[in-house]
Amino acid sequence: MGKAGLIAGLDVGTTKVCAIVGQVMEEGRMEVLALGSAPSNGLRKGIVVNIESTVESIVKAIEDVSNTSSVEINSVYVGVAGGHIKSFESYGAVGIKGREVSRADLERALDAAKAVYVPLDREVLHVIPKEYVVDDQEGIINPIGMTGVRLEAKVQIVTGSVSAVQNLIRCCEKAQLQVVDIVLEPLASSLATLKEDEMKQGVVMIDIGGGTTDLAFYKKGSLAYTSVIAIGGNHITNDIAIGLRLPVDEAERVKMAYGAVLPLGSTDSEEIGIMVAGRERKTIPRSYLYEIISPRCEELLELIKAELKKCGAYEEAIYGVVLTGGASQLKGLDRMAEAVLGLPVRVGCPENIYGLGDTVADPKYSTGVGLLMYGAQNEAQPVITGDMFGGILKRMKQWVKGFLGRQ
Ligand SMILES: Nc1ncnc2c1ncn2[C@@H]1O[C@H](COP(=O)(O)OP(=O)(O)OP(=O)(O)O)[C@@H](O)[C@H]1O
Ligand SMILES: [Mg+2]
Repeated sequence: MGKAGLIAGLDVGTTKVCAIVGQVMEEGRMEVLALGSAPSNGLRKGIVVNIESTVESIVKAIEDVSNTSSVEINSVYVGVAGGHIKSFESYGAVGIKGREVSRADLERALDAAKAVYVPLDREVLHVIPKEYVVDDQEGIINPIGMTGVRLEAKVQIVTGSVSAVQNLIRCCEKAQLQVVDIVLEPLASSLATLKEDEMKQGVVMIDIGGGTTDLAFYKKGSLAYTSVIAIGGNHITNDIAIGLRLPVDEAERVKMAYGAVLPLGSTDSEEIGIMVAGRERKTIPRSYLYEIISPRCEELLELIKAELKKCGAYEEAIYGVVLTGGASQLKGLDRMAEAVLGLPVRVGCPENIYGLGDTVADPKYSTGVGLLMYGAQNEAQPVITGDMFGGILKRMKQWVKGFLGRQ
């Protein structure tokens, strides 16, 4: 039996699937009650390419939760990422019906902003209000109750490939999970790592995972731009595997134990032990690793820099960059990022979380914890109940309808 009032986030990543269960405490803080994780092999660059293997990983992560806690997960907020994600600005204007802006006016303005052409193979994932304009007054965050005749909503629309999202939903269904909502992963990671003031003043969140690097630029308290770069920590591991002729598992071990992007002074001339072809032990200078890792990181940071230039973050991200995701822990990467990007950089992870707070205070859990926060913000129904058939939310039906309607 599950407990009512709990929220579950499912982060289906390229290297791991993790399920995190939590609830909002009275004072509004998040308490994480359970965490389950399993290695993931069914994704490439953030997109499901093998349904069977992804389902297996999801089932294992869910089992891990039930083996280590008394909670049972039936429905989840699922994160989506991958190069298919696109975002663009839109706006919609309506006449204000009474003297004052009502919630209905606001919804009509948002509907008008949503009414844009979206190609048949893409679906709208999020419509994120950025600001409202009442008559000529710009920069309004909440226009309800304001007097005027014309209301304009400026929004950011995020779209994703229908097939990529449907495959993700199918994997969850096959693992006996209902999908409450599909959430953009950069959005989730931002919720878990950014402070309100950073979002207001301007900041860029960069989640460097295994297969992808997700980017989200916030200004004036809302998402201004998002994109996904199809490079992550796995590329570094593969470079090490090729460069040193190591099996991928050994390359990953060597990266985790000794990897760094810049020479670390005293450890620079150190010799490290590696297992070539799984049997022969050899020692190499640690600097060989830097030489392999650094160019790939530089390439990634140059791609990030181009994105920051494109979205205007250089002028407007007062708080600079917050790095998160498993690969953000690579030693020296934050310093290299500061040098290449020319902006202040900090590494962020979920903080101020109760319960399993210490366990989830790790950059690789930013997306999972952010999914919980998204669920809480959206005043989720109790999503974990004993009732498998209740609570399929409107959103999910829309997805299915939208998909079927196109066939
Ligand atoms: N301490 C560390 N040093 C270097 N790299 C690390 C460290 N810890 C984790 N990583 C790397 O982080 C990557 C996994 O990060 P994460 O768990 O955020 O990815 P994911 O969510 O599974 O993938 P994605 O978000 O790309 O779909 C792996 O490439 C792993 O090698
Ligand atoms: Mg991830």
